[in-house]
Amino acid sequence: MLNMKTLVLYQSNTGCTKAYAEAIAQGIHGDVMPLKKFKAYKKIRENYDAVVFGGWIMGNTIQGIDKFLTHWDEMEGMVVLVFAVGMGIPTDESRKILISQNVLDLYHLRFYQFRGSYDYAKLKFPYNLYMNISMKRIEQDPSMSENSADLLQLKERPLYFNDTEKVEKILTVLRTEAAKMEVTKA
Ligand SMILES: Cc1cc2nc3c(=O)[nH]c(=O)nc-3n(C[C@H](O)[C@H](O)[C@H](O)COP(=O)(O)O)c2cc1C
Repeated sequence: MLNMKTLVLYQSNTGCTKAYAEAIAQGIHGDVMPLKKFKAYKKIRENYDAVVFGGWIMGNTIQGIDKFLTHWDEMEGMVVLVFAVGMGIPTDESRKILISQNVLDLYHLRFYQFRGSYDYAKLKFPYNLYMNISMKRIEQDPSMSENSADLLQLKERPLYFNDTEKVEKILTVLRTEAAKMEVTKA
């Protein structure tokens, strides 16, 4: 049994990020909670050794990350991992864009990209409207790229993706940190 106490916070719209957060929390015997419900930042250091935050990606912005990082001072020195969930295939290029757009390089944290699901039928206002506008723009674009054409297909055919390897990767990192903590305490 690990002595490291881990908190997993998440912001999810259609449930995919929530499912990843729950799988991580279960794998490390940690607590899991939506970011919006967590208020006890002042006691975070007293109650936890590691914090994981997962947010879904909208237009390359990790949802909830700005709010999470406003509490950086309370978490500094703890093990902090962030994961972002999007429908795109994670690449080095998308990683660079996400780090830069979400100013992650200003913080001492580990960052992971997960591929998630996308189901147009699950989108509620205003996200369905945002997607309709994007799709109209793509349809009217005479130089439509292959990626954009793929996005149009997703309206009819949802994408389901479960990145179990990334969950395992995060769990390995957390277990390694827990083992290091045991050695330091001994
Ligand atoms: C309005 C909107 C914008 C999106 N923008 C991006 C994006 O920029 N990059 C990406 O990879 N996925 C994007 N997605 C896909 C979501 O990030 C993806 O479906 C994710 O799995 C949703 O997670 P959730 O189920 O936790 O809400 C977008 C989805 C919506 C609805």
